[in-house]
Amino acid sequence: MDTYLIRGGTRLSGEVKISGAKNAALPIIVGSLLADGETVLDNVPDLKDIHTIIQVIRCLGAECDFDTAANRLTIKVNSIKNAEVPYELVKTMRASIYVMGPLLARIGQADVSLPGGCAIGERPVDIHLTGFEALGTTISLEHGYIKARAGRLNGMQFKMRGISVGATANIMMAAVLARGKTVLENCAREPDVVDLGNFLVKMGAKISGLGSDLIEIEGVKRLEPVSYSIIPDRIEAGTYLIAGAATKGEITVKSAIPEHIVACMDALKDMGFVVDSGADRVSVKTSHKLSGTLVKTLPYPGFPTDLQAPMMALSATIPGINVIVETIFENRFTHVAELRRMGADITVEGNVVIVKGVEKLSSAPIMMSDLRAGAALVIAGLIAEGETEIRRIYHCDRGYERLENKLSVLGADIRRVKGGGL
Ligand code: UD1
Repeated sequence: MDTYLIRGGTRLSGEVKISGAKNAALPIIVGSLLADGETVLDNVPDLKDIHTIIQVIRCLGAECDFDTAANRLTIKVNSIKNAEVPYELVKTMRASIYVMGPLLARIGQADVSLPGGCAIGERPVDIHLTGFEALGTTISLEHGYIKARAGRLNGMQFKMRGISVGATANIMMAAVLARGKTVLENCAREPDVVDLGNFLVKMGAKISGLGSDLIEIEGVKRLEPVSYSIIPDRIEAGTYLIAGAATKGEITVKSAIPEHIVACMDALKDMGFVVDSGADRVSVKTSHKLSGTLVKTLPYPGFPTDLQAPMMALSATIPGINVIVETIFENRFTHVAELRRMGADITVEGNVVIVKGVEKLSSAPIMMSDLRAGAALVIAGLIAEGETEIRRIYHCDRGYERLENKLSVLGADIRRVKGGGL
């Protein structure tokens, strides 16, 4: 397995271009199954998760050609040949569950392995399933597989019991071809959901209320394949801004949508960093008046749970007390033990984390446990004294395109060592 070697202490400076959003691309790629013909997607990031979802839709009968140099994915759908996604694929990526919506809409059948728990908690899929049931699907669980059966789905009114990005996207994809009108309440407002909705609308779906908590869908008989460009990744943009701030550097993220990262920008400003934005760029630089702040993860437009770990790495050397409250996932603190090994002063009480800023972190051999925890460790390595070795960096390959190249362009001393570590 590859490892990263990072020699900390360099202030990042310069500009970095943000890639397409992983969490928008995943449901959109699956959404292409809703129409026969050729869909062309641009700004698709070259990430392990994207290659996995391509494998998933290939196994259902789609032909895919991913030009990674151009970030263009061409998907041809003639017919859906298979309705089963095996455990081997679902266990590597929970987003495989997204195929349920399109499969039920197109062929009234989906057999998907039930995702297990993962490093950030139990992560149930009950809201997805009750939504499909409300649309007229019969769900059973057999031998670890969710078996869903339906005729043509029927529109309905459904209030989700909690705000879920995945369930909103999945139920929306099922409802676009249903008979009649579907009203979804308590919807996720994340830009990723809006991007999926815009893609479906371009295909001919009738959807209103995107970006609000009430989405209305008037079912149509068929959708047409289209060309579409994925939005920039707000989590990647936030991660680089946080990394720039943590190294007391001065960086600009380009090809970003500032409106999507307001919560992150506000948190950095609260800490005393100078943040500035233009039409498609955001800059951060340090100041002499840094202090701790309170960050609470919330559904969009609140502070994203995906930036909680990077924010904790940044907080480690900010003077004073930082309080971080995680309200989305139950167990998203696996980075804490690793940050402590580097000298961070962190106390966890339930879902509240108290970080007392220390003067400096020092290098240690550390290990990634999930994607965003991995980003936090890279940031810690960038600010630590000495050379940090990070293992299991395949977690970061799932969600950050060319991470070490982009950081090198900003001046970081980071190297990937092939085949090292456990
Ligand atoms: C998505 C993102 C993930 C991100 C998360 C929060 C994708 C593929 N994944 O995950 O990277 O960290 O949003 O922004 O886009 N819940 C239930 N039952 C359900 C569904 C969710 O109880 O059926 C709970 C979850 O356990 C969690 C909360 O609702 O506590 C939010 O989950 P959700 O928004 O669905 O996150 P994901 O779609 O899994």
